Amino acid sequence: AASDPDLVARARAAKEALGERVFVLGHHYQRDEVIQFADVTGDSFKLAREAAARPDAEFIVFCGVHFMAESADILTSPDQQVVLPDLAAGCSMADMARLQQVETAWDAMAEAGIQDAVVPVTYMNSSADIKAFCGRNGGVVCTSSNAEVALEWAYDQLPDVEGGAKVLFLPDQHLGRNTAVLQMGLTLEDCVVWDPHRPSGGLTPEQLRDAKMILWKGHCSVHGRFSPDVVDALRAQDPDIQILVHPECRHEVVLKADLVGSTEFIIQTIEAAPAGSSWAIGTELNLVKRLADSHPDKSIAFLDRTVCYCSTMNRIDLPHLVWALESLAAGTVVNRIEVDADTEREALVALERMLALPG
Ligand code: 13P
Ligand code: SF4
Repeated sequence: AASDPDLVARARAAKEALGERVFVLGHHYQRDEVIQFADVTGDSFKLAREAAARPDAEFIVFCGVHFMAESADILTSPDQQVVLPDLAAGCSMADMARLQQVETAWDAMAEAGIQDAVVPVTYMNSSADIKAFCGRNGGVVCTSSNAEVALEWAYDQLPDVEGGAKVLFLPDQHLGRNTAVLQMGLTLEDCVVWDPHRPSGGLTPEQLRDAKMILWKGHCSVHGRFSPDVVDALRAQDPDIQILVHPECRHEVVLKADLVGSTEFIIQTIEAAPAGSSWAIGTELNLVKRLADSHPDKSIAFLDRTVCYCSTMNRIDLPHLVWALESLAAGTVVNRIEVDADTEREALVALERMLALPG
């Protein structure tokens, strides 16, 4: 739908008034009406780097979700202010791993005698205190762009541990399992799932000791809804269709796909695809629609039309962006995201380990 012309003009005017003082970051899952005002668009990895690379911007307006704005705050200097246009833009996946629950799991690993062999790895889609937990316990952050190198790094951390290192992967079981099994050569039997809502995570100490990968029982409420049946149905309709999915999809879906990768990978794949090729994409709908609109020479469908937008990504709309920009232009900082100093220091350790990974 076309954006309200009055709001477009107001956003433009407020941005112009702020000039170089403001830098607007837009995640690929944002609405078109918001993306048009982004100085840079990207996946969560690219946006974290972009935030870190803007030391001159007084304000970073983050059009994305809460954990991304927190990461931007951690990676920018203390006098830069990060603004999230709607504070209700959270992430249900990030909310599935609470620090206290993770500490409980960590204690259980100590009781099972394996804690010294475990390297925690958290997906970017987690709160700052989970990243800090990884920072203080020898772990790292990863995104869907670098999960394989991050896992390689993690497994190399404890060369002297008998039986090899183990990874505790937070909070997305699907990204963890897909990367471990499809890229690292682990088997499904090497992976166990810690369920924070069951006593002892639903695992025996022996299961913990036997596992190479301890997956947290979290998932994305959007990507987790794609099922392998829709892949079969699409292939039956169009034998030439290529299925391209994000690694937050369930393992059974990823196994049936032709290609799997982060949002940046998905965009690059479609850009490089020949005219006339036919695709079904399993990721957030705003991105799939934008890809279809900008590549009319290719057939681009959403993997499952019963799956909706990410409701929290969609909370950042043009009215909220206008309000944030106009407030900043008028001298009031609204919706500032500020991570406390102790959490920031430890989370930065884990984020910097990620930024230092090869590739
Ligand atoms: P990426 O930006 O890492 O592809 O992540 C997708 C996502 O779900 C962000 O919330
Ligand atoms: Fe969270 Fe999934 Fe939405 Fe990304 S798409 S913000 S992982 S709920």
